[in-house]
Amino acid sequence: MENFFKLSSQIKISLNDYYELRNLHDGVYYPLKNLVNKSNFDSIAANNRTAAGEIFPLPIFLDVDIKGAEKLSAKKNCKILLKENVVGEIEVNDIYKINKRKVCKKLFNTNDLNHPGVYNFLNKKEFFIGGKVLLNNTRNTKKKDFYFKPSYVKEIFSKNGWKSIVGFQTRNIPHRAHEHLLRTALEFVDGLFIQPLVGNKKKGDFTNEIIFKCYNLLINNFLPKNKIELSSLLTSMWYAGPREALFHSIIRRNYGCTHFIVGRDHAGIGNYYGKYDAHKLLAKYENEIGITIMKLSGPFYCSICDGIATEESCPHYENNKDKITEISGTDIRKKLNSKIYISKKIIRPEIVNALKSSSNIFI
Ligand code: ADX
Repeated sequence: MENFFKLSSQIKISLNDYYELRNLHDGVYYPLKNLVNKSNFDSIAANNRTAAGEIFPLPIFLDVDIKGAEKLSAKKNCKILLKENVVGEIEVNDIYKINKRKVCKKLFNTNDLNHPGVYNFLNKKEFFIGGKVLLNNTRNTKKKDFYFKPSYVKEIFSKNGWKSIVGFQTRNIPHRAHEHLLRTALEFVDGLFIQPLVGNKKKGDFTNEIIFKCYNLLINNFLPKNKIELSSLLTSMWYAGPREALFHSIIRRNYGCTHFIVGRDHAGIGNYYGKYDAHKLLAKYENEIGITIMKLSGPFYCSICDGIATEESCPHYENNKDKITEISGTDIRKKLNSKIYISKKIIRPEIVNALKSSSNIFI
């Protein structure tokens, strides 16, 4: 009865908002448990730490418009509605505004609207709310959705008898550079946890369906299946480069990984971040967050080496640039769109066939 009187309002949320609430609730973002209030927001944006000093690089908030904000009041619970269903409550503790453009510079190192993360952020509604999230039902979703809670994934690792596990973040279909990173990492650990991100991504990125189809193909035919678990990460891309690499590392630590792969321009876009800026930032934090970062360079195709190589293993990279073919998801997407042949040195023909025979491969 007491709860009934406390419930003064309700807000409608999107599926992507729900993913964020679930992650807070399920411990995916530990030590962050609540939607951030203003002081945590400012502290995270300024120093990658909450006001209490814990490392956390991205502020997780819920945005509402003025009408929504007027209905809410701090210190009261509000119901959360997803597609007309009540999925839980928020114990609201703060309703605030921020200077979005100023904050963008801190979070993304730019406030250029051509940056998709900046564009998304600047289009958030006017008011942000902080508070504790109480969800009704957070079982693992159906097997086909591939979402598992950290506690469940840790049980799987333990059943597999894995002591060392490397996590892999991706928003792309697998190409030869990814494959090289995965094979390199597999030399050092008991298991590999491939976790494609399935939240909001930019237009032109690959759809979740095709990413899972291609990964299943790769795992079932070309990788040691018994050393791999495939699952999904329910969150959105910020394209915030090094900061987001730190965010992704903390998440995989929470999923029970002992190692995490960070390659070239992790979570980057265009030329906003240096190729290996994420390696530098993570070197600063990895001991404190408690996960070993596999800071891997390259990989590219070198026609003199006649294979995939990296800056560390190829003597031709500096002085024979015409012999080097960089491998990138962006380039593959462009070639697929223009129906240009893609060499099997860059991406497996089986994956190209899967892409060509599927509809809706791009968002
Ligand atoms: S990301 O936005 O999730 O980072 P992507 O799925 O392409 O994009 O990358 C997944 C991981 O592979 C990241 O750690 C990234 O740094 C790495 N990676 C992707 N392509 C390359 C490449 N050509 N060389 C080195 N690392 C790469």
